[in-house]
Amino acid sequence: MLSLFIIAGTTLLASYFYTKLRYVRLTQYAHIPQLPPHRFWGHLKAFGELTQRGIPDRHPDKIFEETWISMGRPPLMLVDLRPGNAPMVLVPTHDIAEQISKPTQLFPLSTTKSPTWTHTIPIIGESSILGKEGDDWKDLRKKYNPGFTSQHLWRLLPLIIEKMGPFCDYLDRFSATEEEFSLEKLISNLTFDVIGAAVMEVDLQAQHMDRSKQSETIQQKYAEVKEEAEGTRSRSILALSFQDTGSLTPQLLSETSDQVRSFLFAGHDTNTGMLQWAFYELSRTPRALKAVRSELDEVLGPETDPQVICSTLAERGQHLLPRITYINAVIKETLRLHPPASTARITRPGSGFTVKTSTGEEYLMDGLIMYPCASIIQRDRNVFGDTADDWVPERWLGEAADNIPPSAWRPFERGPRNCIGLELENLESRVIIAIVARKYDFVKTGLGESALNANGLPILNNKGQYRVHSELYNKPG
Ligand code: HEM
Repeated sequence: MLSLFIIAGTTLLASYFYTKLRYVRLTQYAHIPQLPPHRFWGHLKAFGELTQRGIPDRHPDKIFEETWISMGRPPLMLVDLRPGNAPMVLVPTHDIAEQISKPTQLFPLSTTKSPTWTHTIPIIGESSILGKEGDDWKDLRKKYNPGFTSQHLWRLLPLIIEKMGPFCDYLDRFSATEEEFSLEKLISNLTFDVIGAAVMEVDLQAQHMDRSKQSETIQQKYAEVKEEAEGTRSRSILALSFQDTGSLTPQLLSETSDQVRSFLFAGHDTNTGMLQWAFYELSRTPRALKAVRSELDEVLGPETDPQVICSTLAERGQHLLPRITYINAVIKETLRLHPPASTARITRPGSGFTVKTSTGEEYLMDGLIMYPCASIIQRDRNVFGDTADDWVPERWLGEAADNIPPSAWRPFERGPRNCIGLELENLESRVIIAIVARKYDFVKTGLGESALNANGLPILNNKGQYRVHSELYNKPG
């Protein structure tokens, strides 16, 4: 009798789980375009196979893009990798991405962040601005916004330029010996130092500052801000954030430390990636390198010595840098084709958050991770035409740029939760390119290196770029 009960119970339970699994995999999100789901594996198996079909360590965005194209470019694409990840909707168009990032009646601060970022808590801390919502986020953003405005950043320009010295010394050494070196490492140390200088006005010496040292620095900055007379006040972003605070409580110290870590975390790899791609694209596009150098000749004079350019920029950068429009276009185009970051959002079940496609269909998004994929959105053929996959800085110059909808370029995301560091990134990148591009020629070795003709010279393709042996690609971060 007992064994009959056990058999019946097990059968019922198995049937319950099977029905539930069928519902979750095959029915729950069946209305959203997707690869045919497997009744047990959802899309896990298909994505595993797709990954193996190309270069296995390519960035997941590439796999999403290949899948999305193979499906005929639908307005949304469901990716069900449960239980590894919550079900996700890939957003490949700028009009839907905009609905997710802009303030709405339901979400006045734009849709809430997806908890996909929580694995970074040990690095950035519990009170990081990156994970805050509502009034907590608003207060933090209000406190730090003034330090990141271009008006304030101009005051930091000499500090940023100071960090260029060691970088150029390394480049001089390598160009004298023509030895191979990792540009990533050099740029990474430089961007780390620049953020340290801008945020705390300290020399991080591109080394990892431990938490106790960081607290010491914060306390020191706090004391400076409170003691210094107006006019001689510390210029750093941190100093500005302290201006209207009372005493430096342990809680304020800990929260400030988390924000400093967040700025280093959010601004370091992103800017390093963007600059590496910019120098790579310049090195294989002679037309663009020539245009950059002509512009620098015109704006800064024919001097190529980085030290002289540094002094010129430290003295008159605020007037000169806004004139380097081609370099600005180089930065914009690099961030379009190789965006180093994206956002992910989610709204709670029952919120009633829907998006509408350009053809009028509405989709309920609650409970699904929404992933506006910048690297797909920013290659939209409807916006960027036949050259959508090509690196063409000129598209950002003159009247041509007026035809590009602002929401189709979103490397820093848009809306209230956009990147706080975008002006700092832009200033830093302009300074670095202005100082470096005038003097040094970079030649990529290994992956992405140019193919050479019988005379050992690179060969131009029909897009005005050097042909390569193998395409350079991003790996997962
Ligand atoms: C090429 C450089 C950069 C890119 C492409 C970039 C991109 C982004 C993106 C896409 C977001 C939105 C993330 C989300 O919604 O989840 C973001 C947010 C953020 N970024 Fe950046 N970023 C860059 C540089 C920086 C720098 C230099 C800093 C600071 C020093 C910084 C600090 C932040 C912070 C604090 C946020 C969170 C803002 C908030 O939630 O209010 N970023 N960034």
